[in-house]
Amino acid sequence: MKRLLPIAALTLAASAEDAPDYSKMKADQLFETLCSSCHGKDLNSGLGGSLVDGQWKHGATDAEIRKSISEGNLQLGMTPFKTVLNDDQIRMLVIYIREKEKDALAKGIEYPKPEPGKITHTDHEDYKIEMVVEDGLDIPWAIGFLPDGRKLVTERPGRLRVIGTDGKLDPEPIQGTPAVIHHGQGGLMEVAIHPDYEHNGWIYLGFADGWRTEDDKPRTITKYVRGRIKDHQWVDEEEIWKADKEFYTDQGVHFGTRLVFDQGYIYFVIGERYGWKQAQDVKRPNGKIYRLFEDGRVPDDNPFVDTEGAIPGIWTYGHRNPQGLALDPRDGSLWETEHGPRGGDELNVIERGKNYGWPIITYGMNYDGTPITGETEKEGMEQPVIYWQPSIAACGLDFYTGDQFPEWKNDLFAGALAQQEVRRLRIVDHQVTEQEIVLKNIGRVRDVASGPDGYLYIILNDPHRVIRLVPAK
Ligand code: HEC
Repeated sequence: MKRLLPIAALTLAASAEDAPDYSKMKADQLFETLCSSCHGKDLNSGLGGSLVDGQWKHGATDAEIRKSISEGNLQLGMTPFKTVLNDDQIRMLVIYIREKEKDALAKGIEYPKPEPGKITHTDHEDYKIEMVVEDGLDIPWAIGFLPDGRKLVTERPGRLRVIGTDGKLDPEPIQGTPAVIHHGQGGLMEVAIHPDYEHNGWIYLGFADGWRTEDDKPRTITKYVRGRIKDHQWVDEEEIWKADKEFYTDQGVHFGTRLVFDQGYIYFVIGERYGWKQAQDVKRPNGKIYRLFEDGRVPDDNPFVDTEGAIPGIWTYGHRNPQGLALDPRDGSLWETEHGPRGGDELNVIERGKNYGWPIITYGMNYDGTPITGETEKEGMEQPVIYWQPSIAACGLDFYTGDQFPEWKNDLFAGALAQQEVRRLRIVDHQVTEQEIVLKNIGRVRDVASGPDGYLYIILNDPHRVIRLVPAK
């Protein structure tokens, strides 16, 4: 028996035998082939009506849109696609429609587009931008604050730079910092100053460690060390965490790399290095969040210390590429943002021993518009608090703890590379009750940090700058 083909496909294929192979199609092709005849190439016209105007007759949730596509509505002229498309393909179309919907809705919105000196009004606070470092940095990645007012900034190619108490960037990087492999997304990334720095002087670094093979192929993974700075020299280095040699890979992506301190413990991340399912394997170091004592020892009460073959430092698993990590100053909960695939960036609360699902469940699809999976939830796997669809490329995360912006106190600020945004999230009882874009389109946001002076510091790439938000008054 011939299978029932939707009208749009029939117009393309003379018979079922020559029907296009949908399984090889990416989201945009699939939409164009099967849907555009009724919903328009722009998703905004035709007899099927607009799919991007924010109005949903049959329900606005992902699940309801999925059902509309799957079950259709023959009486009203909407073809059911469940016999033609599998769950993964339908999920992919939902993501695609969501991306286009957001694009279309965003066109009508004027985001605050700050210029130096200009006052930007946001929902709760008005701010001005101050330039901290305009020139002289190459791919700055993270910022840390020393108690004497100096600031440390990493540059991905492998330098640790100092912004002096006079506010000027020291032309000389710190000498003797670890050799890093600057390859793809990796290099020198995290810098984190110990909360008791005044007494112990510890500075933690996270970076792409490794070597190059004879044919110049890099083998890398993120490593963490701590050390001190004396007379502009990196000294007293101690290894905090390092992977076994067998886990170093030639992949140039998904290094993760953030570290926070929590009362004698450190938490840090290792991205999945494009290892996908390896994120599910606690015998492998990648795609995990770790908890250790500050000196690198493994606490006895870590969740996998008794699991045969598991890496004992692991705290949680099933992560893709986490590049935001912050502790809520109110209750000590650990928050994380991670880059998902296209349409699947996540904000998570990190809890002991839990599985965050990648790549078994995800809200995203592949960058080229092919599906990963139709599964977004599963027993035993955590749901994100929110996910961003389309992706924002989440990078950098901090709770605002200063006094300069009282109405932002304890709000979470999330940076975004691709969307060039800083988003303010209000968190109440582990839920996001407000989400606002407070800054947009002045560069890719690599790091966001609440400064001890109460200003909100932002590290930008392209152009490579450090700026801070100061109250407009
Ligand atoms: C033969 C024409 C036709 C084709 C082909 C078609 N649609 Fe539709 N679609 C419609 C019509 C007509 C409606 C409106 C039904 C109604 O009024 O309830 C609709 C409704 C929908 C809805 C629900 C909208 C809402 O407001 O709740 C979604 C989602 C949708 N279509 C997605 C798709 C996708 C995805 C494809 C391709 C895989 C597709 N459609 C192909 C005609 C079509």
